[in-house]
Amino acid sequence: MRAAFASALALAAIAAFAPAARAADAERGRQLNAANCQQCHDDGLYRGPARKARSIAEIAAQVRKGEQALGLGWSDQDVADVTEYLNKGFYRLAR
Ligand code: HEC
Repeated sequence: MRAAFASALALAAIAAFAPAARAADAERGRQLNAANCQQCHDDGLYRGPARKARSIAEIAAQVRKGEQALGLGWSDQDVADVTEYLNKGFYRLAR
């Protein structure tokens, strides 16, 4: 039982550090945004006519800027997940 638990933990650790080779995950992006990105602005910045990002690349660039301001050291996958969340939930730009 103990051994089974330990190997389950080891598997979970491997999964956590697996290289980014999957589609962007909007739900994970939602969680990352909610946990980290509300210190300077809330979701209001992603809504309405005043918002500035006009492409998915521009959203991603802003996400990168924000995480760097916080010193989070996000991977490309982290940025892609949050960008996916923001585009699905707010911007709705075509790829
Ligand atoms: C240090 C303060 C700060 C933090 C932290 C921050 N942002 Fe921002 N963000 C800004 C400011 C200021 C702007 C608007 C001015 C600009 O374009 O830089 C902005 C703009 C944006 C935009 C573009 C909005 C538009 O006009 O279309 C996005 C997207 C964004 N931030 C996402 C994020 C995400 C995701 C995080 C968390 C990783 C984050 N930000 C963290 C300050 C911050």
